[in-house]
Amino acid sequence: MRIGALKETFDGEARVAVTPSSAGHLQKLGHEVHVESGAGARAGFSDAAYEGAGVTVHPNAAALTEAVDVVVKVRPPTEEELGRMREGQTLISFFYPGQNAELLERARDLGVNAIAMDMVPRISRAQKMDALSSMANIAGYRAVIEAANNFGRFFTGQVTAAGKVPPAKVLVVGAGVAGLAAIGAATSLGAQVYAFDVRPEVAEQIESMGAEFVFLDFTDQVQDGAATGGYAAPSSPEFLAKQLEKFRELAPDMDIVVTTALIPGRPAPKLWTEDMVRMMKPGSVIVDLAAERGGNCDLTVPDAKIVTENGVTIIGYTDFPSRMGAQSSELYGNNIRHMLADLTPAKDGTLVHNMEDDVIRGATVTREHDITWPPPPPKVQAIAAQKPKPKVKDPTPEERRAAEALAFRRQTRSQVGMLVTGGVLMLLVGLFAPASFLQHFIVFVLSVFIGFQVIWNVSHSLHTPLMAITNAISSIVILGALLQIGSGSALIVILGALAVLMTAVNIFGGFLVTRRMLAMFQKS
Ligand code: NAI
Repeated sequence: MRIGALKETFDGEARVAVTPSSAGHLQKLGHEVHVESGAGARAGFSDAAYEGAGVTVHPNAAALTEAVDVVVKVRPPTEEELGRMREGQTLISFFYPGQNAELLERARDLGVNAIAMDMVPRISRAQKMDALSSMANIAGYRAVIEAANNFGRFFTGQVTAAGKVPPAKVLVVGAGVAGLAAIGAATSLGAQVYAFDVRPEVAEQIESMGAEFVFLDFTDQVQDGAATGGYAAPSSPEFLAKQLEKFRELAPDMDIVVTTALIPGRPAPKLWTEDMVRMMKPGSVIVDLAAERGGNCDLTVPDAKIVTENGVTIIGYTDFPSRMGAQSSELYGNNIRHMLADLTPAKDGTLVHNMEDDVIRGATVTREHDITWPPPPPKVQAIAAQKPKPKVKDPTPEERRAAEALAFRRQTRSQVGMLVTGGVLMLLVGLFAPASFLQHFIVFVLSVFIGFQVIWNVSHSLHTPLMAITNAISSIVILGALLQIGSGSALIVILGALAVLMTAVNIFGGFLVTRRMLAMFQKS
């Protein structure tokens, strides 16, 4: 098939649906790749780069649409772009069918088979095609960079000769894809990050990224993420009230607030109210990623940056991915090529529009003069519902004592067994070996036994267990070496000195490594 990428016509849009590298992958699937001249220019891909990758460049959109079987693009098609398409052609782009009813009808009337990248279901197998996630990831990262650019202070805490700088405090509201990317970017810049989400199951993810989960004192904070296709369900008014109360408590302390809270198909919930903005310090920054849907903050102006009377900057840009055109084109281009790989199962350049496939069915919004949106729920559940973990009952004091007594009895039995076996072995050796050997052998066996007991009883609260054990072994070796070093023999002195040197390196090296490891977990 011939696949063609159009140049985006939306003002300021820098992304492109096919990059020279994704074109290579499409060719491997047996497709011919075409682009409109200048399609990749704003993302940093020249026509020459495409030609170098074996892509045919067409002078304008009409020529490209005419030449290809599949039109790919980023933004939903304009009336004009769709109007140029013919019956049986396939369109792959963002479409937002819920908000573009007229466009949907037009595609149906024209007989265009439209695949909406925003409708790819959030199931594991489809992650590589999930363009909403790849764009949200970029938006979350960029939101933090934009905030840093508008914040007149460091993100990381510093102790300098000129004074101590505390780390910036960042609150991320909504820990979905964009929120987690924002948490990652803010923690890596050294900020102290707090995050909130209505889905308590993300708490572990938040904490594993070095941020602090803001818990609410609310017993019903349990939502079933899986039931709604991987998205949260709306919260109750009581829950919302509790949430706002918590945010009011945090507002005066936060330097940066990144809001990403959204439930698909609904207007963005208002979570950062006007009074919270007024409570914030001058110089603070709010980045509202939900601006497109009305914003999570009361004062957000979509597509604009405003500064409030009390000096708080509120950023409501809706084009964060486009502001990183090269990166987002690369990821979107990959999403498109994975979608085309699913549509080309035999890798022979033949498109198979398999409506039995959950992902293809979910994303197809019009097919053969029919509107196929909304799709039936996917057969595979989005994110497995979190099964409540069985609670392990704490043992009672009697149970604990009984368990300890049993462990002691087992240990004693095994030690007695070992002593008896050792004694019998010693007797056998004594029957056959010379007396001087037996004397040394007994000392050796006892040393091994004592050494074993000493080493195994070292507590490793600070070191890793391995380091604790090697340090204990080294300590015993160093003691032995020190005892022997004074003997008259030059050979023994040299061997003793070598043993002291090597074990000292091991012991001090162990402490140094431990110190470094501890430093990694310390906040400055
Ligand atoms: P997502 O669905 O993965 O994450 C949204 C998160 O918000 C979910 O974890 C959900 O549990 C949480 N949430 C919902 N209601 C909440 C509430 N009342 N309080 C706290 N958390 C709540 O969505 P994703 O992909 O992370 O996108 C986030 C936002 O970023 C969306 O609004 C999306 O439109 C926007 N976006 C904006 C871009 C821009 O350039 N401004 C670009 C890409 C995405």
